[in-house]
Amino acid sequence: MTQGAANRPHRRALLAAGGALALSGCGRGQAEASGATLYDVPRPDPPPALKELAGFPLGTCVSTGLIDDPDWATLATRQCSQVTAEWEMKMESILKDDGTFDFTRADRIAAFAQREDLRLFGHTLVWYAQDPPALKRIDGDKRAFDNAVRNYILAVVGRYRGQAVAWDVVNEAVTEHGEGLRDCIYSRNLGQEDYMLLAFQYAREADPQAVLLINDYNLEVTPAKRATFMRLVERLLKRGAPIGGIGTQTHIDIHLPPGAGRTAIRELASFGLPIHVSELDVSLRGDRMDLRPREQKLAAQAGRYAEVMGAFLDLPPRQRFAFTTWGLRDKDSWLRRSPNAGDGTDAPLTFDDHGHAKPGFWALADALQTRR
Ligand code: G3I
Repeated sequence: MTQGAANRPHRRALLAAGGALALSGCGRGQAEASGATLYDVPRPDPPPALKELAGFPLGTCVSTGLIDDPDWATLATRQCSQVTAEWEMKMESILKDDGTFDFTRADRIAAFAQREDLRLFGHTLVWYAQDPPALKRIDGDKRAFDNAVRNYILAVVGRYRGQAVAWDVVNEAVTEHGEGLRDCIYSRNLGQEDYMLLAFQYAREADPQAVLLINDYNLEVTPAKRATFMRLVERLLKRGAPIGGIGTQTHIDIHLPPGAGRTAIRELASFGLPIHVSELDVSLRGDRMDLRPREQKLAAQAGRYAEVMGAFLDLPPRQRFAFTTWGLRDKDSWLRRSPNAGDGTDAPLTFDDHGHAKPGFWALADALQTRR
């Protein structure tokens, strides 16, 4: 495929975006004009399994609470081939205040993945937002801090070696608007970029086979942040960091300018490394007043899902690491629980609260089916 062709929005993905609307018997313009609902058309039930349409891992996030929900487990095991622990493989769940490790919840997630033959994606090892008491207590003692971080990474990555195929080694290292790199307990004790290099080295020491990724968010929303992130990746690679993939979280909303998601994926792929769309959700809210009817917001949401999947499908197969949504059913979304959850009616995912497929699901299915 020539470079020019590789850059053009994939015709079929654009059709898919329209396809989700076409399934509703109306195009975007018609939907906006007639206000027709996207739920009016008959659809195959049960919906197709996306993991069977995709030639790459289809993922979602999981928690022990969801594992115990049989409806969720049925939906997740039908649709997905990979899982990411939403929070229980992080320090906040594993690293106890006295510095010892509690793997109870993480092990339950690993056991579920093993039992259901799901790939396990490790998330996340070093994150500025995770500075638990056991690390705070040695803040400033650089040697002790380095030993503690190394011991943590060796223990966690070593425990799931051979099952966790990959890890988000460093998460969210770039500041909110891309001005620079975050100042955090890790940078203060181990060095602004050295902490990242060390984390990658320790993870590689613990598991010579795992794919090691660096992960961040708003890389499509904020081009300046994407540029800072890419310069960081370039420097780390030049310093020998064993970065084997790039995670772009893709927490977006329906007001993201069309094409921004595609541009981000295309630029991030310029390193030639595998890309993980790692935490995709498309909020119906956002930072502006939007008085459109809900059905039209859902159509706009379907268009964003189609665009991101289309851009991912335009990557060479070797760069399609995995495509993960941060949840399946709206009611399970972190956006229903986050401090800015508003009225709690956001519906960012591809299945509604009852597990019924939404236009966003059909947009993904159409994009995948047009490429088979
Ligand atoms: O459910 C437990 C409860 O049983 C327990 O008593 C309580 C004790 O603190 O914790 C509750 O779990 C909370 C969990 O979410 C489930 O709601 C944790 O406190 C809380 O920290 C956790 O927040 C997670 C957050 O990361 C921090 O780990 C969110 O679920 C999760 O969606 C969010 O995910 C992040 C990614 O890792 C990185 N990218 C951004 C994304 C969204 O913030």
